[in-house]
Amino acid sequence: MSAPKSSRSQPDLSRRHFAMALGAALVAVPLAACGGDKKQPSGGGNGGGGGDGAITFGFAQVGSESGWRTANTTSIKDAAKKAGITLKFSDAQQKQENQIAAIRSFITQKVDVIGFSPVVESGWDTVLKEARDAKIPVILTDRAVDSADDSLYVTFIGSDFVEEGRRAGKWLVEDTKEDGPFNVVVLEGTTGSAPANDRKKGFAEIVGNDDRFRFIASQTGDFTRAKGKEVMESFLKSHKKIDVLFAHNDDMAIGAIQAIEEAGKKPGTDIRIVSIDGIKEAFQAMADGKINVVVECNPLIGPQVMDLVKKVHAGDSVEKRVEAEEGVFTQEQAKDELPNRTY
Ligand code: AHR
Repeated sequence: MSAPKSSRSQPDLSRRHFAMALGAALVAVPLAACGGDKKQPSGGGNGGGGGDGAITFGFAQVGSESGWRTANTTSIKDAAKKAGITLKFSDAQQKQENQIAAIRSFITQKVDVIGFSPVVESGWDTVLKEARDAKIPVILTDRAVDSADDSLYVTFIGSDFVEEGRRAGKWLVEDTKEDGPFNVVVLEGTTGSAPANDRKKGFAEIVGNDDRFRFIASQTGDFTRAKGKEVMESFLKSHKKIDVLFAHNDDMAIGAIQAIEEAGKKPGTDIRIVSIDGIKEAFQAMADGKINVVVECNPLIGPQVMDLVKKVHAGDSVEKRVEAEEGVFTQEQAKDELPNRTY
């Protein structure tokens, strides 16, 4: 296997901030686009924050399926505290029905702003309309919805998952100078989720156009370590020759590494491993030669989310879409970057 090369095109990997004006689709929209009239401040009686003028933010998190998610939850909680925003937090345990119930409960409690990271892309219109009828603005964080009516939410803040998939694919195409063929297996994220749909699409856009690569198996590991290991075990049993693993997140890649080692193979050498997220353990695995490349997905969006909550509550215009700046890290860069990883 040739030495891994960087396909990094990002300007400065030490930056962990969101660029507030990135992307072609950035359009400033007034709050009136969602929820009708500008809301009264919570001190005016509608908000769940009581009469002290504090903002109450109801946040329905996906779950705690991954290291990325844990970092994201911590970022949201810390940032709310720092911003003086009262946070009502709910963990949906990766179930859409739990998230819908949490949003309905936030509506009943008359919170000022609702935020959620949708477990899956479809099926949100009814509850989003209920929030709009209650004049509670909604902010999507991390994951998008596929609703045709984008006035049902005020703004989205998160990553470009299609681009992450493309970056993973570009690294692989550049790293494989041999003729192939290469047998590729994929550990997909949660079925129907934006990161699973989009990363698959972006990766296929690049790798699917190179006939040296053959997709021999692709199955969901639900973004968890345990399922990543379980599915990789079954891949290894059914396929004698696996050259590449594309894991939609680090936790599944780490689970798969265990399966590969237990099968007597060397992860990162016998099987190239391409992953997404950038948690510290994945950097350690890269430094140990067990993962070949990690495409970064930034979970530390809490401060930007709280800025949006304040603006939305004040009735200020906000960007319709706010995207992250993220890097691609190879084994060569992993050791240097390891001490900087905070999650
Ligand atoms: O939505 C972001 C994805 O969700 C992360 O890549 C994954 O680790 C998490 O579960």
